[in-house]
Amino acid sequence: MTLVVEAVRGDITRQQVDAIVNAANSSLLGGGGVDGAIHRAAGPTLLEECRRLRETSLVEGLPTGQSIATGAGALPARWVIHTVGPRRWEHADGGAALLGSCHRTCLDAAIGVGARTVAVPAISCGAFGFEPAEAAPIAVAAVRDWASHQGGIDLVRFVLFDDDALDAFMRTINVP
Ligand code: APR
Repeated sequence: MTLVVEAVRGDITRQQVDAIVNAANSSLLGGGGVDGAIHRAAGPTLLEECRRLRETSLVEGLPTGQSIATGAGALPARWVIHTVGPRRWEHADGGAALLGSCHRTCLDAAIGVGARTVAVPAISCGAFGFEPAEAAPIAVAAVRDWASHQGGIDLVRFVLFDDDALDAFMRTINVP
């Protein structure tokens, strides 16, 4: 099946997909923005699972650009894929490689747990300082590039919270 890439306005915690992506930080122990919303909606088992990861395979935390899957607690999705976006101000070169890596490694993590439909927020477009117009082409190109080498994912749905981000992702996706 060919990958469908789409953009919708919405709250990612409500998405009925196999996996939703969390724009986390390296600690994996929660935060504000979409991270806070996901932990609130998932309930305490998500934080417990993240704490266990920090005590076992991720003692140093999750590096920027990397992704890891956990269960999803009370969310409608089955998995949460945590990724750590770059902080825009730390990358004079734009941080495109790390932001692209977030999207590619999220899809690798999705494949790893058998998820075929994935909802993705505007990673790094809140506290981490990217403009949606800058992040959207990086995100969409990374997803398309990943899918040109590999199958297994049917849907990547970018779920955007505000007009700016929705507009940027819609425009990018609709460029042939
Ligand atoms: N559904 C979809 N998108 C959301 C939601 C939601 N429920 N809540 C917020 N967003 C949007 C924001 O409007 C923004 O466009 O997610 C985008 C990413 O913003 P942040 O959550 O701030 O993520 P990021 O910029 O990657 O910063 C990550 O923020 O809270 C912390 O723990 C997190 O330290 C990490 C940092």
